[in-house]
Amino acid sequence: MAIQIKDGVFNLKTPDISYIMCVFGNRLLHVHYGKRIDSDIEIDTEVLRVRPCAAMTGKDIEEYNMSSELLLTEYSCYGSPDLRTPAFHAEYEDGSEVTVLTYKGYQTYQGKKPLRGLPSTYVECDDEAETLEITLEDTLQKIEVILSYTVFENYNAIARSVKVKNRGDQVVKVKSLMSCSSYLLDKNYEMMHLQGAWARERHIQRLPLGNSMQRIDSKRGASSHHHSPFIGFVRPYTTEEAGEAYGFSLIYSGNFEAYAETNAYDTVRINMGINSFSFCHKLKKNDELVAPEAVMVYSAEGIGAMSRTFHKLYKNRLCRGKWRDAERPILINNWEATYFEFDENKILSIAQKAKEMGIELLVLDDGWFGKRDLDNCSLGDWTPDLRKLPNGIKGLAEKVNAIGMKFGLWFEPEMVSPDSDLYRAHPDWCIHIESRKRTECRHQLILDLSKKEVQDYIVKSISDILCTAPIEYVKWDMNRNFTEITTPGLPHQYMLGLYSVLERITTAFPEVLFEGCSGGGGRFDAGMLPYFSQYWTSDDTDAIERTYIQYGTSVVMPASTMGAHVSTVPNHQLGRTTPLKSRGYVAMMGQFGYELDIEKCTDQEIEEMKHQITEYKELRELFHNGEMYRLKSPFEENCCAWEFVSEDKKNAVLMYCTVLASCQGAYSYVKLRGLNADKTYIDIETGKKYGGDYLMNVGIAFENSQDFLAVMKRFEEA
Ligand code: GLA
Repeated sequence: MAIQIKDGVFNLKTPDISYIMCVFGNRLLHVHYGKRIDSDIEIDTEVLRVRPCAAMTGKDIEEYNMSSELLLTEYSCYGSPDLRTPAFHAEYEDGSEVTVLTYKGYQTYQGKKPLRGLPSTYVECDDEAETLEITLEDTLQKIEVILSYTVFENYNAIARSVKVKNRGDQVVKVKSLMSCSSYLLDKNYEMMHLQGAWARERHIQRLPLGNSMQRIDSKRGASSHHHSPFIGFVRPYTTEEAGEAYGFSLIYSGNFEAYAETNAYDTVRINMGINSFSFCHKLKKNDELVAPEAVMVYSAEGIGAMSRTFHKLYKNRLCRGKWRDAERPILINNWEATYFEFDENKILSIAQKAKEMGIELLVLDDGWFGKRDLDNCSLGDWTPDLRKLPNGIKGLAEKVNAIGMKFGLWFEPEMVSPDSDLYRAHPDWCIHIESRKRTECRHQLILDLSKKEVQDYIVKSISDILCTAPIEYVKWDMNRNFTEITTPGLPHQYMLGLYSVLERITTAFPEVLFEGCSGGGGRFDAGMLPYFSQYWTSDDTDAIERTYIQYGTSVVMPASTMGAHVSTVPNHQLGRTTPLKSRGYVAMMGQFGYELDIEKCTDQEIEEMKHQITEYKELRELFHNGEMYRLKSPFEENCCAWEFVSEDKKNAVLMYCTVLASCQGAYSYVKLRGLNADKTYIDIETGKKYGGDYLMNVGIAFENSQDFLAVMKRFEEA
């Protein structure tokens, strides 16, 4: 039983962890989250870490002479007399904002229900997980809050969500409904998060907790390049291999917040959910609001193990459809090759050459529709530009197929250019405030996906093209953030509209491989994974910067979801020149592809790329299904190394990349992970034999001899 309930104590267990709550008086309190506990838990004040109420706070739990100010309330509310930032916050018709949630009851069931209108993890059969639902209520204001915990025993993870129901007659304005609320019992942790900017996404940052509020968020309408909806808590001494690591990941792609609030007694409250800044959702009688799902992972064996738990769960029980398991085609995208300057002949000659190299899918990026010779027009007018493509998309796709390649197409469906037929016909369809200037970004405005007619337009216009041409891949882009937001509830309504559109389109075209994009990785979050089996990780294709971006992204995201391409040098974003070999190996850490004009490459470069393609095809299954280990961090050392190990531990691939060379460069010993210590492994290239224990405890030495040089080594069990 994953959920053990005894004497008011709920112990949610996986083989390694326990998440424990208890009913205390009429409150639901948090007791423990961390290593598994099997012994009975006696509810007493010491275990609960409470104390008689301090002078400044009220005694609201009279029978115990205690104050909720000091308690670890599992799902907190503000003002009576807990004065910390709450998980739940609402305004009532009498103008008050005080809620008191007391325990009402619980139920458990095998399996897991889907979240209505929101992406979530799932089970394929009911015995994969067990769910606990605890109901809390405010008897005065007549609201119910249902906390849901699904224990994925075999995945070592717990998925949570929250629902609030209005049982009374008044209209309740919900201002905060956190998806996940939890505690750390001391503050000797660092908060770990993934920060960045456009073309510099998801760099790892670790900051020690103080007696303060430490917070990340997005108010940008998308989860954003700047912060990912993930926070981790690690001990100062926690490494990839050892030490405690807690990870909280939100399955949501819009405005979010995640924070740790350390109180005067060094207890840390963690909240994560939709950003409560400028959020308001009105609940009429019997209405309900569902918060997005959050996933909690705990590892006592370092950050690497935490990541592998996220990878396994997200790859197998968040990603879905045909492409969840299927190996992905190697693609070539024309964006960095041609930008907007192409015609049918150019695309076909790229396709012809790509086919000869062994590439499997040609993706036509931006510029194929309306009159789009630059980024200043035509978004929304999804009709082929016959000046460039006289035979339309259908004609082009058929010719690409005749060459022996699959065909894929770029869209930016959520946007409209002011210079477009769509905008001229429906100027009111974009997010705007009457009489205010509509701020343009990249000459575009955002369609208001909270409107049903807008959702239907997008579904129809994209579906019409997918129906009429043999399109096997779609790149779904989104290149700007929100401004002039009409109402506080709009960003969330937009997300619900977007998820509904994505659900309709991906369900209608189950064979199509959808790749997400948002100016690179500006919305690469767990909420996108059910719809997009892969995501364009960053617009920065420089191999060295990619080691940082992909390393940081892999803290939560499986490699099978990360789009990664070989581009030209000097690199278009950074101007850096790196060896083709390195660009190839770094891209193989994710979903492999090319994004350069192969017609301008030398014969030698083409030969080298053919070799990469052959090598990738040999290893594709291992990259897709293998366990990923991060061995050297570019954030900490002058190199980056990572490894994929097959499930049966018989095969491993190690990649190593030097950042900056130095004269008489130092040796760097890279210890492999995840092998069988008592088995012998052969280095495929040299034929040299090593014990698994040797590879994992002594390691392979690399010389930091050449700038930006990457090396790959393959090992096979003898
Ligand atoms: C965004 C994407 C790029 C490319 C361009 C096209 O920037 O991230 O990959 O598709 O749009 O305009």
